[in-house]
Amino acid sequence: MGHKAYGIDFGSNTIKVYRKGQGIVLTEKNIVSTVGKDKRPVAVGEDAYEMYERAPASIHVAFPIKRGIISDMDDMVALWNFAGKKLAGHRRFKGGDFYLSVPADITDVEKKAYERIITDSECKPKKVMLIPKPVADAYGLGLDVEQSSGILIANLGADTVEISVLSRGGIVVSKILPYGGNDYDDKIRNYVRKKYNFLIGKRTAEFVKTSLISAVPDDRAVKVVGRDVVKGLPGEITLSSAEINPLINDRFDDIAVAIRAVIERTPPEISHEIKQRGVFVTGASSWINGIDDVIMRETGIGVNVSKDAQKTVASGLGFLTEHSKLAAKYAIKFK
Ligand SMILES: Nc1ncnc2c1ncn2[C@@H]1O[C@H](COP(=O)(O)OP(=O)(O)OP(=O)(O)O)[C@@H](O)[C@H]1O
Ligand SMILES: [Mg+2]
Repeated sequence: MGHKAYGIDFGSNTIKVYRKGQGIVLTEKNIVSTVGKDKRPVAVGEDAYEMYERAPASIHVAFPIKRGIISDMDDMVALWNFAGKKLAGHRRFKGGDFYLSVPADITDVEKKAYERIITDSECKPKKVMLIPKPVADAYGLGLDVEQSSGILIANLGADTVEISVLSRGGIVVSKILPYGGNDYDDKIRNYVRKKYNFLIGKRTAEFVKTSLISAVPDDRAVKVVGRDVVKGLPGEITLSSAEINPLINDRFDDIAVAIRAVIERTPPEISHEIKQRGVFVTGASSWINGIDDVIMRETGIGVNVSKDAQKTVASGLGFLTEHSKLAAKYAIKFK
């Protein structure tokens, strides 16, 4: 109790921030728009996303984290400073301890870069701790990470699928597949361009995805606006689940096969408990109707999809802010 602490999950698509004693206080697109050579931020989060692919050339709009790796440090620090002022308002993220989740497979240099988001920002941290994402995810699911001999989590995010097995507090397997929600959006855009000669933006593609996508047959449809390439004019088309689902369903099969392969490579004493508990699926790309059935059919194991799927990593970091001894045990140490 007492001093300030934050848990931050800097996702490739969405930032989630937990504030000790308050819970999740921020969920925003991890995107920034800046002007000028010195990259002065003009918008972050949803406001910046509004400008994405629409802004004049003088405004630079970017997602600074790609596939779990910081691709532009200046953008990321600018975004974070601006997010504190603009989005957190009087609650500003300043002082105290910062707990950040990082993908399990990245290099020490890439991990250090995460630390720099905070140390180079206006946060004035007392301490920055990096926690492997699967560990935070497991705590966020409310699991007893120290005692369990087998936990399997598949985090379905925007740029990656991260499949991890934890046993007695250690990560025993971590497999990353390089695709997720962003890839689904791209597939939808490409399909609409080729099939209808019609251009839609990323935001529209994301809307189509969240409205229609399903791993099992579905009869939903949505109208979307875009630009007719042949006429060169704005227009409207209707898209259905029946035509969108086949673009993406192979991916769900790939995910289920990868989960099965991980289970098969896991020692029996660990896989025994995984089978008893079922597979845990997290990340907002798991909010897809029927994805649990696909995984269950492939693995023969029960599947737990979390309602809070997008926030489990940040909630787990939050749990660790309240249990700092445990956090110190998991914090990544550098040579
Ligand atoms: N209802 C929904 N159905 C399908 N996909 C969704 C839904 N809601 C959000 N998404 C997608 O989930 C993705 C964001 O998920 P999440 O916040 O877990 O990713 P992230 O942490 O930013 O990315 P990563 O973990 O890969 O770095 C986006 O691609 C978004 O479009
Ligand atoms: Mg994530």
